[in-house]
Amino acid sequence: MASRGVLCCRLLDRHNGTGGAIAQLGKLFARCANRKFQRYSSATHKENELELGDSTSAAANFAASLKTGSTQELVSPRSRRQRLNDSDIPFSAFLTDSFGRRHSYLRISLTEKCNLRCQYCMPEEGVKLTPRGQLLSTSEVLTLARLFVQEGVEKIRLTGGEPLIRPDVLDIIAELRKLEGLKTIAVTTNGMNLARLLPKLKESGLDLINISLDSLVPAKFEFIVRRKGFHKVMEGIDKAIEMGYNPVKVNCVVMRGLNEDELLDFVALTEKKPLEVRFIEYMPFDGNKWNFKKMVSYQEMLDRIRQQWPSLETLPSEHADTAKTFKVPGFKGRVGFITSMSDHFCGSCNRLRLTADGNLKVCLFGNSEVSLRDVLRSGASDEDLLQIIGAAVGRKKKQHAGMFNISQMKNRPMILIGG
Ligand SMILES: C[S@@+](CC[C@H](N)C(=O)[O-])C[C@H]1O[C@@H](n2cnc3c(N)ncnc32)[C@H](O)[C@@H]1O
Ligand code: SF4
Repeated sequence: MASRGVLCCRLLDRHNGTGGAIAQLGKLFARCANRKFQRYSSATHKENELELGDSTSAAANFAASLKTGSTQELVSPRSRRQRLNDSDIPFSAFLTDSFGRRHSYLRISLTEKCNLRCQYCMPEEGVKLTPRGQLLSTSEVLTLARLFVQEGVEKIRLTGGEPLIRPDVLDIIAELRKLEGLKTIAVTTNGMNLARLLPKLKESGLDLINISLDSLVPAKFEFIVRRKGFHKVMEGIDKAIEMGYNPVKVNCVVMRGLNEDELLDFVALTEKKPLEVRFIEYMPFDGNKWNFKKMVSYQEMLDRIRQQWPSLETLPSEHADTAKTFKVPGFKGRVGFITSMSDHFCGSCNRLRLTADGNLKVCLFGNSEVSLRDVLRSGASDEDLLQIIGAAVGRKKKQHAGMFNISQMKNRPMILIGG
């Protein structure tokens, strides 16, 4: 793992007295900012100003800091370094933000495409797809993954879009498996291709599976995902159990008037099957027509389940867990709640996201992004990439702006982020 101090010195050594190189890095940053401006041209003027404000000042700081020989302001404010010195276990400063959060979990979106059209994830008319050449190639995904793992990422989740429709998904998993230090490789899938691919996924080294399923009623499933396929998903879930994945996590986005009446049926499913059914609060993203009234809060869900099973037990949670987990005594499986809306878990957030077109997103609900693809394609070194990653992580906010603000904010549709 490269220490930030050492890398900064190396970078400065290399660029000392070379105004051209400094200007080039500054331009590189500005180019990324411009691309972002083009992509989000539908954002309001104020939002664009905010976005550009972030990136361009970072670009200017970056170039200036190289000139003066001080990278402190951009990548390593004193308080940030102090926290790092205080901690017992060393961790990459590039992946540690100014609130001391260590980002050891990377979610990589492998594709913007999907074989379903879930109402809560994408608009009915679909989304404008990024041209193929602008998506990360297999080797770019692996180069970036390797860099993050070298810096301390221990868990990578492949998502999308639907990750299992990407033809090279097995190769990607097999290559990730070779990365020393990477403890867990997970996939979030809609389950449509799962039963068929599972033996090969397991052979390639897949550790964990989350399968999305929002209804146990086939007709309602089709209504929510706007496609057929209920039985394929159920087959995928059973196959995952049969192949020894335990627990198999089932993601269920709960929406009022749609599937909230199935809460108890989903809990009942955990009686005989080693599932962790995770009820997810409905979140706002571009094009999904989110509305506060459609959201069923964690507390409301819990109350309803407790009426049926008053003995529901709380299970202990780990520091960076996003789910609050419970178990009905005697049941094989358990239930969890992802409370991003009513009780966010920003304080212990350890996640970073890489979109299929190569943007690093430090917060699911923030619209600030930086293109690692452009940096990579400009021929930048690992050190240059780390500087840019470190600067983005350093700008990560303490917490998201609250559910009403994020519902007004310009963000990508979920399918283009990678949940
Ligand atoms: C975007 S999907 C991508 C992976 C895969 N296609 C799938 O559906 O599992 C990842 C997860 O995000 C969840 N998700 C999508 N839109 C959401 C929303 N508006 N609120 C809460 N969860 C959402 C999905 O239910 C899914 O579990
Ligand atoms: S939630 Fe997953 S399956 Fe549904 S549309 Fe989004 S990416 Fe596709």
